[in-house]
Amino acid sequence: MSVSVLVGSQWGDEGKGKIVDILSDRYDIVARYQGGANAGHTIMIDEKQYVLHLIPSGILRENKECIIGNGVVVDPQALLDEIDFLEKNNISTKGRLFISQNAHLIMPYHKLLDSISEKGDQKIGTTGRGIGPCYIDKYARKGIKIVDLLDKNELERKIRINLEEKNNLLKKVYDHEELDVEKIIEEYLAFDKAIDPYITDVPLYLHNAINNGKKVLMEGAQGALLDVDHGTYPYVTSSNPTSGGACVGLGVPPTKITSVIGIVKAYTTRVGLGPFPTELLDETGENLRKWGSEFGATTGRPRRCGWFDAFLVKYSRMINGIERAAITKLDVLSNLDEIKVCVGYEQKGKILKSYPTTEVGLNDVKPVYETLSGWKKDITDIKDYDSLPSETKEYLSFISVQCGFEINIISVGPRRSQTIEL
Ligand code: GDP
Ligand code: IMO
Ligand code: MG
Repeated sequence: MSVSVLVGSQWGDEGKGKIVDILSDRYDIVARYQGGANAGHTIMIDEKQYVLHLIPSGILRENKECIIGNGVVVDPQALLDEIDFLEKNNISTKGRLFISQNAHLIMPYHKLLDSISEKGDQKIGTTGRGIGPCYIDKYARKGIKIVDLLDKNELERKIRINLEEKNNLLKKVYDHEELDVEKIIEEYLAFDKAIDPYITDVPLYLHNAINNGKKVLMEGAQGALLDVDHGTYPYVTSSNPTSGGACVGLGVPPTKITSVIGIVKAYTTRVGLGPFPTELLDETGENLRKWGSEFGATTGRPRRCGWFDAFLVKYSRMINGIERAAITKLDVLSNLDEIKVCVGYEQKGKILKSYPTTEVGLNDVKPVYETLSGWKKDITDIKDYDSLPSETKEYLSFISVQCGFEINIISVGPRRSQTIEL
């Protein structure tokens, strides 16, 4: 049995797409379990770059099956656009993309509420894809699911009930004009035909697949520190990207999970607001952004950059159960004379024993750094571990010891070929 969960270990954009693409060769099924089109997973095949938001990165390998689980929130238009984009690139989704009937639909009012609620003290710096408001409705038991697309009357009834409430909210709280209910009903009724062929009973499908010896890779979106329960709340997303979320978001029991793979960027980035103790607001930070092309794959926003935070990743290892890790974007550090790694936080003269995730806990923390030598060599063409400069190996070994996991994949560039396996 091989059922692996692949998780982002920091604040997202660790290079999950690239590593899923590499690993999916060894799996039969790749499944997304949370988040939605807020994700942007980049895969480079030869000179062509693909950015996927909703469909698992495994779709780029011809004979793999892909699943969108119940934990994902699906914007039907974004999904159809992505299917269309893939078809135009001669990648067929027919017969190998399956969507849970229980996934919730992102509605136009979710996207609108996401953007207009982003103001003042309440600003999070969201991607504006309607993620938070959709999960709010899911947990308030007002959500509209993929399965509702199959029953025209039910769909219409639910849209009308929701619109009454949302229009009230728009008018009274946000002083915003009301949305046209008839237009939304018409738009969503039309999704039925296009999405119908993909709708599946995902837990049953995966249960049978796993029992028949199929290998499953569960592709997390975002990262552990953006987890609504375990992240830097309230500056988080509204789902559970951590490994536990994979069971709930796909209907696979914990007893079936055989491994957790952590994707770990060789430095730290974050998009949107929120605490970031190792952030570099100087020239080094700008250089990391430039060398690493750190601009959001979904929104194009510049990503905030900083030193590697081993204290944070060690916490991430603990809550995810990461035993093996892929270190990505190591090449981005190649120009530096020396590289700092945060090994702990100091607050009011005391060294913290455990990672603080709360706003108060993260207030005024000072990172404690160890300084390592840079390697000042281009490593983008190196194919085996032994050929890496000794300083690069020291950096890797330092991270591995500090974080407490084995590193078995090293990524030295965005392409498939720029990957070293141990
Ligand atoms: P994801 O959301 O975790 O899938 O990551 P993104 O796709 O948002 O961001 C990662 C970016 O880094 C993408 O542009 C990738 O093509 C790129 N990338 C991935 N691995 C490497 C690497 O090892 N080196 C470099 N230079 N770029 C990489
Ligand atoms: P991938 O899968 C990085 C961030 C947003 C914002 C916060 C909440 O590509 O790693 P949301 O729209 O989810 O309500 O925004 O979460 N965020 C991400 N940051 N990578 C992502 O996905 C992200 N998805 C959401 O910037 O700070
Ligand atoms: Mg991304």
